[in-house]
Amino acid sequence: MTAPLAMSALDLAGRRVLIRADLNAPIENGSVRSDARLRAEVPTLNAATAQGARVILMSHLGRPEEGKFDPALSLRPIALRLSELLDRTVRLVPDWIDGVDVAPGEIVLTENVRFLKGEKKNDAALARRMAALCDIFVMDAFGTAHRAEASTVGVAELAPVACAGPLLVAELEALAAAVGQPKRPLVAIVGGSKVSGKLEVLKSLASLVDTLIPGGGIANTIMAAAGAAVGKSLHERDMLDFARDLLAGKFGKATLALPTDVVVAEALSPQATASVRPAGQVGAGEMILDVGPATAVRYAEIVRDAGTIVWNGPLGVFEIEQFANGTRALAESIAASKAFSIVGGGDTLAAIEQFGVADRISYVSTGGGAFLEFLEGKELPAVAVLKRRAQEAAR
Ligand code: 3PG
Ligand code: MG
Repeated sequence: MTAPLAMSALDLAGRRVLIRADLNAPIENGSVRSDARLRAEVPTLNAATAQGARVILMSHLGRPEEGKFDPALSLRPIALRLSELLDRTVRLVPDWIDGVDVAPGEIVLTENVRFLKGEKKNDAALARRMAALCDIFVMDAFGTAHRAEASTVGVAELAPVACAGPLLVAELEALAAAVGQPKRPLVAIVGGSKVSGKLEVLKSLASLVDTLIPGGGIANTIMAAAGAAVGKSLHERDMLDFARDLLAGKFGKATLALPTDVVVAEALSPQATASVRPAGQVGAGEMILDVGPATAVRYAEIVRDAGTIVWNGPLGVFEIEQFANGTRALAESIAASKAFSIVGGGDTLAAIEQFGVADRISYVSTGGGAFLEFLEGKELPAVAVLKRRAQEAAR
């Protein structure tokens, strides 16, 4: 299939360029807590303004109720932080859907696209109004490329020209290289609270990777399915059959590397006392909150000998010091490994930042859900429409 048209191939001078970015960053007390997604967008914005584009930038933040303004989910903190990162003023435009004034070389940021009715369900009338704002639509929101919404898919169908931005292109290339012809052994670490949320990705990875390391509630559920006592650990009883199938190799022959020891406590709290137990010997009143030291050493060895590593989801509750060791050891061993490493997802990015290893990861993806859907081999809807547009343009 034809590749999407790339922003880098277009002349943007004086054009109204509407860029959909994923600036959905955690906000704390009115300011941006982690600006990784904002920093990732800076090269695209600089490239567009250097050419004299009139840049209209749009993004969602959180999941507001549509049709209402919610001050807690305003993009104002995003505009402020972006202004700092770019060393220029990024003006926030609260009312933008019927037209935006923007000078050549200027960047304006529209208010949260999810404040508009019809965004989530990709309403055609809303998408048409977005498309009318621009000469060129640039899809650069890799993190939202798995969502078919008005600002990701609808507008791309209707804009005069639709292309992929540099960040989207880079993400797709890096992930394709890792999953297409990965250097073996290919190791995937998939953590997270729920098996049900990652069912499809676990199935796909079972046939794709050599070793699968589950973390968090996913690991607990698989341990329970293997017959281990998990006490009151987070796990899903209605996923036990699926977990047994996974263990039996029904979806593929990946080796499942389960914890052999775990860190437990009676409560999930910074004051809780942590103890180490062999896997399977968790007390009825205890919950697993991290992997144990022997498991951490084994995982470090697996990661050291890998050719390619894909990581989404922490191993334990790394935000609390006594449950952070497993995730910290994993982050450090991935950083030290010679393997090509790809890390994605909000919590995982927070973990690599917290442990100071972000600059020793081969590729840090801005995507969470999008990253996982790409790994499943799913076509991302916002990318599919760009390919279609490129095909039509070539005819
Ligand atoms: C994310 O953070 O995963 C993306 O920005 C998409 O957000 P959503 O899950 O609310 O659609
Ligand atoms: Mg999400």
